[in-house]
Amino acid sequence: PVIRREDYTPFPWLIPATRMEFELGLEKTRITTTLNVERNPDAAASPTIRLNGDGLALVSLACDGGSCDGHMIDGDDLVVTLPGDRHVLTIVTELDPSDNSQLMGLYASNGMLCTQCEAEGFRRITFFPDRPDVLSTYTVRMRGPRAQFPVLLCNGNRVATGEDGNSHWAEWHDPWPKPSYLFALVAGDLVARTDHFTTMGGREVELNVYVREGDLDRTEHAMESLKRSMQWDEEVFGREYDLDLFNIVAVSDFNMGAMENKGLNVFNTKYVLADPETATDGDYDGVEGVIGHEYFHNWSGNRVTCRDWFQLSLKEGFTVLRDQLFSADMGSEPVKRIEDVRVLRGVQFPEDSGPLAHPIRPDSYREISNFYTSTVYNKGAEVIRMMRTMAGAERFRRGTDLYFDRHDGEAATCEDFVAAIEAGTGLDLTQFRLWYAQAGTPKVAVTLAHEGDTARVKLTQTVPATPGQGDKHPMPIPLKLALFDRASGTHSGEQLVVLDKDSAEFTFDGFAQRPILSINRTFSAPVSIDRDVSREDLVFLAAKDDDPFARYEAMQELMTGHLVAAVSGEMDDGEREAARTDIAQAMRAVIEDDQLDDLMRGELMVMPGQTYVAEQLLVADPGRIHAEREALKADLGTRLAAQFEALYERTGKVPFSLDAQGKGARKVKTLVLAYAAASDPAKAAELAAHQYDGADNMTDRQGALMVLAGLDSAARTGKLLDFYNRYAGNALVIDKWFALQASSLHPHAIEHVKALREHPDFTLKNPNRVRSLYMAFAANPQAFHGADGEGYRMLADLILELDPINAQTAARFVPPLGRWQRIEEGRAKLMREALERIAKAPKLSRDTYEQVTRSLG
Ligand code: ARG
Ligand code: ZN
Repeated sequence: PVIRREDYTPFPWLIPATRMEFELGLEKTRITTTLNVERNPDAAASPTIRLNGDGLALVSLACDGGSCDGHMIDGDDLVVTLPGDRHVLTIVTELDPSDNSQLMGLYASNGMLCTQCEAEGFRRITFFPDRPDVLSTYTVRMRGPRAQFPVLLCNGNRVATGEDGNSHWAEWHDPWPKPSYLFALVAGDLVARTDHFTTMGGREVELNVYVREGDLDRTEHAMESLKRSMQWDEEVFGREYDLDLFNIVAVSDFNMGAMENKGLNVFNTKYVLADPETATDGDYDGVEGVIGHEYFHNWSGNRVTCRDWFQLSLKEGFTVLRDQLFSADMGSEPVKRIEDVRVLRGVQFPEDSGPLAHPIRPDSYREISNFYTSTVYNKGAEVIRMMRTMAGAERFRRGTDLYFDRHDGEAATCEDFVAAIEAGTGLDLTQFRLWYAQAGTPKVAVTLAHEGDTARVKLTQTVPATPGQGDKHPMPIPLKLALFDRASGTHSGEQLVVLDKDSAEFTFDGFAQRPILSINRTFSAPVSIDRDVSREDLVFLAAKDDDPFARYEAMQELMTGHLVAAVSGEMDDGEREAARTDIAQAMRAVIEDDQLDDLMRGELMVMPGQTYVAEQLLVADPGRIHAEREALKADLGTRLAAQFEALYERTGKVPFSLDAQGKGARKVKTLVLAYAAASDPAKAAELAAHQYDGADNMTDRQGALMVLAGLDSAARTGKLLDFYNRYAGNALVIDKWFALQASSLHPHAIEHVKALREHPDFTLKNPNRVRSLYMAFAANPQAFHGADGEGYRMLADLILELDPINAQTAARFVPPLGRWQRIEEGRAKLMREALERIAKAPKLSRDTYEQVTRSLG
């Protein structure tokens, strides 16, 4: 069935208190749930209460201590007749956590028990109104064998403990009413790194990061990130923590990144464990960002939660923005912005231009797990960022203060958020609300005319049609721009213009010569800009723009423009040579600019990704894009060989540290290797083997191995084997070993993927492992888009095999096949065939069914 946003009605019952007792066992857990229910005065009365279940067996049910007036099982739900205004329901269920491969609800992982309830996992534990607008106060007693589960954790505070025989128990009480999706419980043999934080109001908070025995010395970065998050949220958003305890638990079998359960965040190990030997600089940043993200949810998500799942972006978009601002403050603001934009354009733009496009506040769904998307998260963050840009940080803060104030303790809507920002900032956001309703990436065409001493900037927007949304209205698009004077190379100030009609013209006086336009600075709006700009002006901006993002953008545009022209076949040899000369000149200026730090230099050196280039074309030929991209890489490697060599030598001398200088040096080093791999593979292999052997950190070692994995060199096999043996038993590093080979530029990468599928360390039961092999593969254009369609068949096989084991994870592999409309017809047909074969399977999960049918269009 399709669930629609417009059908929302409040739940007829309130559940002021929930008491649960868990008799824990890996193979058998018995749960007794006691619900105090009373009529909701703000909802239409109902003679029954519907309690959601999902595959649950009801062991027993009692109403007010005796038998009920009536009850029935309807589908998976339990419907109970309730004659009065207040009742106490007692429900007993029993489960086998070891048999739960979906990793939703209560499951076993490596001998421990843990839960994942968002979005609809609680109904796999007990019967309950499993919707975010039913808030309840939870008291939980958990009991289990002490030897097996020495640590017993739940939300809130531990209020009592006890022993009996070989068992022990703990009782937990969470004073903050919460929806069921924030429930969590963990039992296992864990050890903790413990620390403390004193809040601005003087509350002493105990902090713990729980991991398995051998992992304790890899938790320091997580703990430091947590303390920084707590401090930052006080300073920047005025938000203080509200319990005496904050626990984090790392779990190796986890569907997503992490989960913000009240007082008990559960994390994928990938976002907790880090040390220089086993984690890359990117991994360190990932830990800090996700720790921040989950912590920030305590206010944006938990204290103020969502009325229904259509409002998901209310908490996710806002929390992503908060974690982005946090990471920017902890490191390099421009580099963080560039990284965020790269994710947005590499993942969200394609989603927004394909069959799965949806507004950040969707109108309907079959399976909500399919809507934990880059659109809801990343575009959601961009939409809120635009409000902040228009209001300014200070006024925006007044808006968020008002939002938290108005809705603390409530289940709110996106509309509530916008209304609070409006009232707090004084902005009129009437038309801006379209950003919540309309899908599709707006395109803004930009032209610049110059006459006398006046420059006219003409802006025209189009919002493309998306599934179910034929015609669109113009949206307010805030664009930061600056006009550079050609002679002086400077501008007289940045301006913010808001394009809120189909088309508008803005005039600027005082330009004797035609100025150079810098637009969408800091990527102030999540749109694609179509500007008529000369290569010469792009070279200027790449070298001189004072907005680092705009410099990055100019470099990207130089290269993207060339690649698009090259694959479209609209270029003769002379033009090709001229374009490559300009790109090399710009790149050389970047390499030699001693005002740049290496972290930023690295961004300016990165080539546009293959998907981003494909996105610029109506119909793409992945083979040709790949070939042209590699050719440009080789050309730059050759032209700039001397500069790259000097750069490699300088950065090679920078000692290991986790500060910006060290990280920047490592980023640049591996980029140089990647260019060399295209222009001089023998030399690259030699350098990479040397870098691999001498590495005192994972960033250098993985970077070198990545380059080697793409080459046909003698060192390739040896170093891959060395890496495996060196890190055998460390699951997160072995994940890298799988991913590296699946994403390599090696011409036989597809064969390597097939072989790795049969490797003893591969398992469909662990999402990190499945993703490390197959997400990397699906994102490897050369291997996945082989013209014979073998890549598509392999992905379809995986989806079919994984679907019964872990539907949520299986469904996440469908979108790469859904790109068929934008790919040349030979491959498009093969991609459709793969989708159709999945669609025909006799038994598909709701998750995969929905994604496949939407993808077929
Ligand atoms: N709320 C979590 C986060 O973003 C994501 C959990 C979603 N889980 C799921 N199974 N759909 O931080
Ligand atoms: Zn989140």
